Amino acid sequence: MIKTISWKNNKVFLLDQRALPAAERYVTCTSYKQVIAAIKNLTVRGAPAIGVAAGFAAALGALGLGELMSDKFRKRFFAICDQINQARPTARNLAWALERMKKSFILAQNFPPRKIAAALISEAKRIYSEDIEINRKLGKNGARLIAHHDNILTHCNAGALATAGYGTALGVIRAAKAQGKQVHVYVDETRPVLQGARLTAWELKNEKIPFTLITDNMAGWLMQQGKIDKIIVGADRIAANGDTANKIGTYSLAVLAKEHGIPFYVAAPFSTVDVGIKSGEKIPIEKRCALEVIRVQGRNIAPKGTKVYNPAFDVTPAKLITAIITEQGILKKPYAAAIKQAHKGVNN
Ligand code: MRU
Repeated sequence: MIKTISWKNNKVFLLDQRALPAAERYVTCTSYKQVIAAIKNLTVRGAPAIGVAAGFAAALGALGLGELMSDKFRKRFFAICDQINQARPTARNLAWALERMKKSFILAQNFPPRKIAAALISEAKRIYSEDIEINRKLGKNGARLIAHHDNILTHCNAGALATAGYGTALGVIRAAKAQGKQVHVYVDETRPVLQGARLTAWELKNEKIPFTLITDNMAGWLMQQGKIDKIIVGADRIAANGDTANKIGTYSLAVLAKEHGIPFYVAAPFSTVDVGIKSGEKIPIEKRCALEVIRVQGRNIAPKGTKVYNPAFDVTPAKLITAIITEQGILKKPYAAAIKQAHKGVNN
């Protein structure tokens, strides 16, 4: 299995996703600040993977506090969590993981500092291993929706690389394959950062799952020609009413899917659901730098000084989503009620 993230000897190892598919190299982080930088510069990316990295970053932060006494330790640890939380604004899993780390700290706060750090390391490791289990579960749930010989379109990378392992949208495809269903995947290249071409294609190739790469602007034409049976994407944040933020371009696919009567599925762990946000308008959308759009493989593709707008995500209204696949089951409309019900299960 791909090791997207790992923890060994108080260090975090991140598969450098900026270098794929040309090189498989790891970045080593010994401080929480290095993990923050790695989240910002997309060394590690994808909502669940960002959450797992944030947990490990908080553990590194606690280790760095050494023998500080309790009140100071608490203040500094919470300030570190706040800094980590600023790394990227859209993925719900980031704040979710940090909330878990803070709860774990509160339970351990009367221990000596070294024991607190040990408790936080254990919690971060739990977030990591639970993520793999959850993906396997949601993959199995989602595989029920997949038929033999389906042609599935996916956008961005919602695979093992975007999680601790196995993946969400690609987890569904992996599970369908494991059940003996033969599927073929159309992979949107996913401009501007090309997570589809560089990462999803790399994963599917390694897994020997048949796929065809297309540029983003080809998807509508393929749908019109009847080449797509289903669309499955991941999510960065799902509001309480089911509105879903995911990689820019997802919304266009959902509109096209509706026009062509193609099922449009979102696959995500329940930790991506933000029950505190009523609808998609409130989801913060990250704006990234102009260079991601202007420069391709180190070369400028637009005149110097060209104005660029680069939102990293868009929001697909819940009404365009056929079902949301989670480890809690397959959620259907009306999503507000389905999410409320599933949330009870998560808290119990
Ligand atoms: O900017 P990225 O690469 O972090 O964006 C990732 C996505 O949009 C994924 O589809 C999403 O995080 C789900 S990953 C299981």
